[in-house]
Amino acid sequence: MSLVNMKELLAKSDSTFAVGAFNVSDMEMAMGAIKAAEEMHAPLILQIAEGRLRYSPLELLGPIMLAAARQCKMPTAVHLDHGRTLETVRLALTLGFTSVMFDGSHFPLEENIAKTKEIVALAEKFGASVEGEIGSIGGAEGDMASADIKVTSVEEAKRFAEETKVDALAVAIGTAHGNYKETPNLRIDRLKEIHAAVDTPLVLHGGTGLTAEDFHNCLANGITKINIATASYDSSAAKIKEVHKAKPDANYFDFSDAISVGTYENVKKHMEIFGLKGKSKLYN
Ligand code: 13P
Repeated sequence: MSLVNMKELLAKSDSTFAVGAFNVSDMEMAMGAIKAAEEMHAPLILQIAEGRLRYSPLELLGPIMLAAARQCKMPTAVHLDHGRTLETVRLALTLGFTSVMFDGSHFPLEENIAKTKEIVALAEKFGASVEGEIGSIGGAEGDMASADIKVTSVEEAKRFAEETKVDALAVAIGTAHGNYKETPNLRIDRLKEIHAAVDTPLVLHGGTGLTAEDFHNCLANGITKINIATASYDSSAAKIKEVHKAKPDANYFDFSDAISVGTYENVKKHMEIFGLKGKSKLYN
């Protein structure tokens, strides 16, 4: 099964399930995510954001993610999340990532379109998919500058999708990266309007902290890819603390296992909510 293009994974998603895209920062997290996908018989997207590369250089982590995807028995795409620079996008493509995001959402619309088009032309040479962003998702993924939420306009989304021809479109509908300080105001009304106007598969960022009902509302109304990062980092960190508490003489390998288990549990939980159980059969 193994390494696939992200576009193929999203193409099968309908209003009953969405493909989970899980951020990983090391081999242990990738192993945990793959174990969850295999147990759930679910497709998987492994991703790393440019804002996290300070801790996990792409030249080192990228090949690990790709090897993990090739080894995984379920269809798995490897994706660069929130690519900010052409250099990083080019590096991901050269390493063999099957998908890249270019996040030009902080640029004026014209500039975002122009820069995203360049990325689409480059990715095409590698046979990789491209995700773009329009509007502004709140918060920050790692070292990214923190952004305020700017809900995606239907007209801008339509124009952006038509002109750039991206394979997936991240929309801002009230979510933010990181843990929510207050309950997010999800704009399902706007999601429905964008979905009616745009054919491109839509992506939900800022998945951590949303309820099962929120996820179901989103996937029933056009979201085909859901990003989860902070919840896996938190779950792995909590597992390390748990191991340390239960076993004061825990060694390095106990903690390394804890990272895998924490991510495994979180990925599996979200795959169940996203309706992914058994969905790998759609890709045979
Ligand atoms: P969270 O960290 O809120 O889960 O967001 C993940 C994300 O959208 C990655 O791009």
